[in-house]
This record gives sequence, C-alpha cells and structure tokens, in this order.
Amino acid sequence: MIHDKTGKGNDYLGWVDWAENYDKDEYDRIKVAAKRIQDQADVLLVCGIGGSYLGSRAAIEMIQGPYGTSDLEVIFIGNTFSSTAIVRILEYIKDKDVAVNVISKSGTTTETALAFRLVRQFLEEKYGVEDAAKRIYATTDKSSGLLRPLADAKGYETFVIPDDIGGRFSVITPVGLLPIAAAGIDIDALMKGVSDATFDLNTEDLNANPAYVYAVARRILEKQGKVAEMFVSYEPHLLFLAEWWKQLFGESEGKEDKGLLPTSVNNSTDLHSLGQFVQEGNKILFETILTVKEPLEDMVFPFEEGDLDELNYLADKSLHWVNQKAFEGTLEAHVETGKVPNILLEIEKLDAYNFGYLVYFFFKALAMSVYMIDVNPFDQPGVEVYKRNMFRLLGKK
Ligand code: PA5
Repeated sequence: MIHDKTGKGNDYLGWVDWAENYDKDEYDRIKVAAKRIQDQADVLLVCGIGGSYLGSRAAIEMIQGPYGTSDLEVIFIGNTFSSTAIVRILEYIKDKDVAVNVISKSGTTTETALAFRLVRQFLEEKYGVEDAAKRIYATTDKSSGLLRPLADAKGYETFVIPDDIGGRFSVITPVGLLPIAAAGIDIDALMKGVSDATFDLNTEDLNANPAYVYAVARRILEKQGKVAEMFVSYEPHLLFLAEWWKQLFGESEGKEDKGLLPTSVNNSTDLHSLGQFVQEGNKILFETILTVKEPLEDMVFPFEEGDLDELNYLADKSLHWVNQKAFEGTLEAHVETGKVPNILLEIEKLDAYNFGYLVYFFFKALAMSVYMIDVNPFDQPGVEVYKRNMFRLLGKK
C-alpha cells in the first residue's frame, strides 16, 4: 500500500521516493541561500509551527546541541502565541543583523502569520522595504495559500513545499533543508542518509526490514494492552528529535479513537522524575529507546587525591561509558524488575547522515504502523476544532 500508493491518504506519499525525485536545481539554490544567510545575518529567525518547524529544530539540536556551534544563531519563532516569548525575541534581535525563513504550507497558520507580520515590520523598519526583502526567504506551497502571493508581491526568494509531502514529513524538503544548511550542517550527508534508508527499508520481508519490525512490535504491544509509547534517549541533543517524533506519531495515528499516546523522556535526567512511574506505576506503556554508539564529545573522569566526593571508583573511565552503564542498568530495571517492554534502536552518531537515515526510518515505520490500524496517517482533521473555536473568540470573519 505504501509503495503502490493504494492506501488511505495516498496523495501524500511523495516522501517515499523523495531521495530520488527531489528538485536538484532548487536543492542547489538552498545551498546558495544558506551561504547568503550566513553572510548577511547574525541571527536566522525560522518562523513556522508543527511540521514547518520541528524537523529543522530536531536536526540542528541533534547535531549542534541547544547552544549551536556555528556563527549564525538560529531562533525559532512563529510557533506560539505567547506574548512573552514573541516580545523577548524581538527585543533580543533588535541590535543584530537578522534574516528570516518563513515556512508555511498553507500560509494561513495564525501563529506563524502573526509572528511573521511582526518580524516583517521589524525588518522593513530596520533595513527599508527593499533591503528587508533580500533577507526574507519564504518556503510555501507552489501556488496556493496566502504566503505565495505575499512573497511574490514583496520579491522574496521562495522555496516550494511539495504537494504530496505533508508537514510532518517535510524535514527532508526545503522546509527543513534551508534552516539546517544555514546552520552549517552538511545537507548532502543528510540526503545520503535518506537515500540509504530508502534503499535499505525497501524490502517487504519483515525479517529484513527494521522499520516494519518496529511497526509490528508497536501494534503487538498495543494488543497486549499498552496505550502509550515512551520515546527514551540518553542524549540531551535528542530532546527535539523526541518532540518531532511525538508530532509524527501523535498527529498521524491519533484518530478515530485509536492510536498509542506518544510521550518522551530524556535520561538520566528524567530517571529522577518520570522514572518512578515507569518503574512502578500503571503498566500502560512501553519504551522505545534510541541510543547513540559514538558520542560527539567525551572525556576521561579525573582522579582526585583524598576522594572526598567518593568518586574515585570512576577515575579513568569515560563519561560516555558512565552514561552507557546508566542505560544498561535502567534497561534491566525497567524490563526485568518493572516488566515494562522495551524496543531498542541504535544509531552510530549524532550527525547529518544518521539524522536523514533515522527520519526516513520513522516515516516508513509510522506509515506501516498506522495502515495496520486502518487509519489515514497523512491527514490531521482534529487540529481544526481548536482553530474554529479560537477564530470565533478572536472575531475572525
Ligand atoms: O504536520 C502538519 O501538517 C502540521 O503540523 C503542519 O505542519 C502545521 O500545522 C503547520 O502548517 P503550515 O505549514 O501550513 O503553516
């Protein structure tokens, strides 16, 4: 159904062969624009929400961490109505050189449109209308929505969100690639990861396809009475990958009164918090753990004369080894003592290649998993309900 495009929502399967089919000229333009952004700005504001936001943030944080490692600071806006959050960002950027990538497939998402008007006015006041336009990059639908005509009228450089790829699958399109490239990350390596995963996960043989094994395991655990899946990592760099994963799974399968609740923890931090619930609480969940073989950084723990903190038993051990032992001890505690089933996923490194590979793995697993409960994985009708009420309260005609 996924490959023959015969299942529900089959208009949105463009991601399946995207590694082969993407627009190569546009891809080259992304690299040029990313370089220009680096030259013209101290800060890149990425203005978007949901699928137009989480993927690039997940990639940048996975590879560079929450504080970034390039000269360009990437700040995400347009993903909240919080006046405090919005005003603080406007205050923070006022004396900096700024570029903006506004991303919205529909062009009508209110959080994004509202923030973009404020940012646009800020840029036009600071640089003048014409120069501001050279700092604004719009990623949107090729013809429909409100952002396309606005971008054309103002003369912004634009990038296209393909018709057949939904928001939460769009990190491998210009939606994700422009901010990721601007942050200085190798998007060729990312796309190579997508391409290798496309090839590796192409087989319908369950035993040879880990994406399908994961998909089936989720459904078996659900049949055994589990109602929640907890995504677990031991790397703070993966906090936003977890946010991205929750959107991918929650928005895709939470329909028709069906689906597992996707939730997440970051250990060992959360072992001092939700760890208690996992160990001894209501047996509603299973864990899906993503571990990383090779850390980006490591150091040897030092010996100290006197050993007042009683940590000399760790002297000469690496910090990553300690983290690894925390994972192994927890796995045993949760599975054997707590009787909480665990699914284990492992990647080599926190790099662009593994990010590309991993997101495709999750796309494929998700599509299979959701087709198994006869739900359309690619729409999100439920998100309209809050919007209707909010617009009524806001007085929108
Ligand atoms: O996955 C999705 O489709 C959604 O999360 C959208 O990405 C999100 O609502 C933002 O929509 P848009 O890009 O139209 O502003």
